[in-house]
Amino acid sequence: MTITTPLHEVLYVSTLKPGEPISIVADIAARARVFNESHNITGLLIFDGMRFCQQLEGERKPVMALLERICRDTRHVNVEVLHHAPLGQRRFRRFSLGYTTVDDIDVLEKLEQLDGQAAMDLFVSLLSTLDLDA
Ligand SMILES: Cc1cc2nc3c(=O)[nH]c(=O)nc-3n(C[C@H](O)[C@H](O)[C@H](O)COP(=O)(O)O)c2cc1C
Repeated sequence: MTITTPLHEVLYVSTLKPGEPISIVADIAARARVFNESHNITGLLIFDGMRFCQQLEGERKPVMALLERICRDTRHVNVEVLHHAPLGQRRFRRFSLGYTTVDDIDVLEKLEQLDGQAAMDLFVSLLSTLDLDA
């Protein structure tokens, strides 16, 4: 019998701090990948040039601990957790941290207005428009 630890996921949106160069995002993603992989956290970071949206999934404790660190990060502002809930199975098995950009700036703005399951549903529908190989 294999014992599987329950999974948890979080979804938040935030805004790049005014004055921060866009170039920091690639640096964040590269470092995050190493950390997430070693903590068995997977997920996706979306950036539209101004706003971030990140989904993180893994065991609840490390995911929530990482979320706390991310919330304290001064390189972004207006961090708003839209959804966190138990998760049956990972959405992103292959990404320690998938990173993608979207050109349509309305999407993350719209996501920011939503909460809970409605936010998650929009995130999932957004995935189908992205060229991801999860
Ligand atoms: C939008 C955004 C997303 C981030 N995502 C992650 C992540 O998935 N994993 C990670 O280790 N750090 C991530 N970071 C960086 C963390 O906020 C933090 O700087 C890093 O974990 C180092 O933490 P420490 O400075 O407390 O050591 C992210 C930062 C931002 C601004």
